[in-house]
Amino acid sequence: MSKAPSQPANDGEVITILLVDDIPETRENIKKMLAFEADMKVVGAAGTGREGVALAKELKPNIIIMDINMPDMDGIQATTMITEAVPATAVIMMSVQNDPDYLRRAMLAGARNFLTKPIGMEELYNTIRTVHTRNKRIAPPPVDNRRQPGLPTSASRGRPGHIIVVYSPQGGVGTTTVATSLASGLMKEGIKVLLVDADLQFGDVGSILNLQSQSTMVDLVANVDDLDTELFENIVATHDSGLKVLLSPARPELAGEVEAKPRALATILEKIADNYDFIVVDTSSHLTDPLADILEMATKIVLVATPTISCVINLRFVLDLFDKLNFPPDKSVIVLNRVPEDRQLRKLAIAPERIEQHLKRPVVARIPSNELLVLRAVQKAVPVVAFERDKNKSPIKEMLELSDYVYTTLMGEEEEETESEEKKRSGFGLRLGR
Ligand SMILES: Nc1ncnc2c1ncn2[C@@H]1O[C@H](COP(=O)(O)OP(=O)(O)OP(=O)(O)O)[C@@H](O)[C@H]1O
Ligand SMILES: [Mg+2]
Repeated sequence: MSKAPSQPANDGEVITILLVDDIPETRENIKKMLAFEADMKVVGAAGTGREGVALAKELKPNIIIMDINMPDMDGIQATTMITEAVPATAVIMMSVQNDPDYLRRAMLAGARNFLTKPIGMEELYNTIRTVHTRNKRIAPPPVDNRRQPGLPTSASRGRPGHIIVVYSPQGGVGTTTVATSLASGLMKEGIKVLLVDADLQFGDVGSILNLQSQSTMVDLVANVDDLDTELFENIVATHDSGLKVLLSPARPELAGEVEAKPRALATILEKIADNYDFIVVDTSSHLTDPLADILEMATKIVLVATPTISCVINLRFVLDLFDKLNFPPDKSVIVLNRVPEDRQLRKLAIAPERIEQHLKRPVVARIPSNELLVLRAVQKAVPVVAFERDKNKSPIKEMLELSDYVYTTLMGEEEEETESEEKKRSGFGLRLGR
């Protein structure tokens, strides 16, 4: 799946690899291919899932290449056990089927990537290096990408902007509606906001906000190495309200151009984060490599759901996956959208308190259903929150409250951090601790 060009580790680091496949020839073939690469070393091979789990615990390799179909214990079950027992090891799943359902199950079990047999040499090397690099970043203790020293800092705020990913494992629940309104609601004087439409196949922010730009993220992905502010400003579209929007590929078949370079979108966001205070990312429900990268680098993940059983079950899967990826629990919050206004209907919906209890994440907004207002906003090509002056009308009021919540939480955290850094520098904090 991963075709990103990757360089051998040049710091002398060797990636240790365990192979798990019930077919001896497959193990031998992969071993031979890996023998050509100086930065990769096969430290063990197992012929069954069970043996794979035992060897993983014993050898603690960096990477496991795991077949999905094995007689005693399949690769998905083995991966679940390995990610629990040896969380620092990353599993790459192998299969003859390129079936999205397999991919989803493998990802939910904790697999970090997917290879389809027969495996090409370049694809194998690239996937191993990409997963290893990414794994180093997400291995415990969890690190927040944006807070690493050495990254360039924003001129206005002294640090890169916050990346807020709006996501739902279920389509059609209002992810785009919430993302556009959140971006719009965050726009205050002196605050720069960018909305990114990362629904690569069917992104509709452009049509909802009636943006006529010819340029999209496909143009940026092609020039990611030469990306600078000028190029970015030429490509980004501007809504009448002043909101900047990076549009998704203009046609579904162009999504492949972004997916073929799985790190490209994350790199673009990293590079332009200095220029914005908030970057709000609208996403599709389909978990892809570029999306996994963006979820990882996000400051906050806003999970959108309707108060229905199927939505809550899917959120449970997603949160389990986030736990496996070592995302801190407070990275994700839940927004309930399309909450029925009608009392009878509301009784049938799942209560927010129960959702909070079950998912152990706060429900930070309950956005009522108001089809007429939402459709009218689309007709007018404005985010829902900008539809009319009366800000007390639902769901405008609740959507603005959500923006305020996000603004206050993230900016508040920043202030707290700055204060404690200042205290540390002045020694005040240390004195208090004595
Ligand atoms: N609070 C709301 N009240 C009424 N209708 C809403 C509300 N939020 C969204 N909708 C409607 O729900 C439909 C889906 O919304 P939207 O496109 O935002 O969802 P999505 O999750 O992004 O969908 P997709 O999976 O297609 O990207 C739209 O017709 C929109 O007008
Ligand atoms: Mg959408």
